[in-house]
Amino acid sequence: MLKRIRWSFFAVLAVGIGLYPVVYFLTNQKMGLLTSKSDDLLSAPLWNLGFYTHILLGGLALLVGWTQFSTKLRTRYLSVHRRIGKIYVIAVLLSALAAVYIGFFATGGFIPASGFICLGCIWFYTTLQAYRYIRQKDQRRHQIMMIYSYAACFGAVTLRLWLPVLTIVFNDFITGYRIVAWLCWVPNLAVAHFVWAKPLLRKTGNLLTTH
Ligand code: HEM
Repeated sequence: MLKRIRWSFFAVLAVGIGLYPVVYFLTNQKMGLLTSKSDDLLSAPLWNLGFYTHILLGGLALLVGWTQFSTKLRTRYLSVHRRIGKIYVIAVLLSALAAVYIGFFATGGFIPASGFICLGCIWFYTTLQAYRYIRQKDQRRHQIMMIYSYAACFGAVTLRLWLPVLTIVFNDFITGYRIVAWLCWVPNLAVAHFVWAKPLLRKTGNLLTTH
């Protein structure tokens, strides 16, 4: 029962935030984060390409990624798992590259920029490694890298949970934004490592010693 509640909570958050970027495509008005950007940046074609590629494919990755952790899906419908997996990998690689680029222009300067750029690199690396491992038929490493990849992806959810709280606590959006650019993903990766990946490693042996 508790497992089902946890799973539903996880799915609702992933789907809810995964659909959120659609809002940017529904209006011609300057909205959300765009209100903090200069007119020069908003008219730069490369930044626009990066921004819309990032939010569209990031939303898609978040939307489909959580289903891949279902044991039922993996065991009963392996071809569906494979197809969704390919969509996830392509969406992440493009969205992460775009995120690293737009990260250089992040609102709030160096602290949020470096937080988002680090996250983008980790998201890209863990996803690419997960894909390479499964091509080598190494399911264990694939599973562990995908845990890290989706924990990074879930940073989009935790960011939107933390940000309103931090903005209220510090009574300042930019201070909250600087903190959240790191807080949205460092704890996620720690939880992913200690709660999910490490027990799996313990069960199956250390990655480094068995390569
Ligand atoms: C996990 C790696 C991710 C990184 C490194 C990242 C990075 C970024 C960066 C740098 C920005 C622009 C920030 C600024 O200019 O101040 C941004 C904005 C945005 N990202 Fe991501 N992002 C990630 C994941 C996602 C995912 C999975 C989604 C899916 C919902 C997403 C949706 C958005 C949206 C909608 C915005 C516009 C700002 C807003 O309305 O909140 N991002 N992201």
